[in-house]
Amino acid sequence: MRIIRARDYSHMSRQAANIISAQIIMKPDCVLGLATGSSPIGAYRQLIDWHRKGDLDFSQVRSFNLDEYVGLSPSHPQSYAHFMRERLFGHVNIQPQNTHIPDGTAEDGEAECARYDALIRSLGGIDLQLLGLGPNGHIGFNEPGEFFEKGTHRVALSTETIQANKRFFGREEDVPRYAYTMGICDIMQAKRIVMVVSGAQKAEILRRAFFGPVTPLVPASILQLHRHFTLVVDQEAGALLPE
Ligand code: GLP
Repeated sequence: MRIIRARDYSHMSRQAANIISAQIIMKPDCVLGLATGSSPIGAYRQLIDWHRKGDLDFSQVRSFNLDEYVGLSPSHPQSYAHFMRERLFGHVNIQPQNTHIPDGTAEDGEAECARYDALIRSLGGIDLQLLGLGPNGHIGFNEPGEFFEKGTHRVALSTETIQANKRFFGREEDVPRYAYTMGICDIMQAKRIVMVVSGAQKAEILRRAFFGPVTPLVPASILQLHRHFTLVVDQEAGALLPE
């Protein structure tokens, strides 16, 4: 595990964007694993900026998003499909047909999860996976539990996650109760992983995830076992990490 200690959110975002852009430059048709939430927004902004300056070409990039809410269509303003269009895809030259997100409206959830995993495999797996960290240690929507779930699956969101995400929906009742998420196996099979974590409210869970035991009770802790894992933290989030 490599830890990059950034000064603040914008420095953290730039460091993460550097790693992503290096991946795209090294392998223009790379497969990126992408994340939502507030943590990666700054990195996406930086990538858009470099693309506008002519330094970054997404024309051959393929992407898989980690997760999507069950029941939300891609046009729903809180769907992750909408988030990705607003925050990245709509501003760079990635081909829409090369971007993949689980279909929240799929009638057969199990078939949708199997389709998603098969598609990831058919494109050769993920070259670089970007992650945020949930307040309870989740990655994607892999919630704390008794075991590490393998592939893409449907998950019941924890009370803590519903609480954390209600800020986007206005009312708690409007937050979907279920989501599709890539599993721990999908994430761990990525050739490289970069996680961005910012803010004092993540400091304690960050310490538990990376300097505590590897346990499904803190899903992100499994990343300690990944061979090419880079953690990019800002000063506030990294405050409780050992020197
Ligand atoms: C959501 C997403 C996660 C994300 C987490 C943290 O639950 N499914 O992929 O990492 O939120 O979000 P934030 O970066 O806003 O703290």
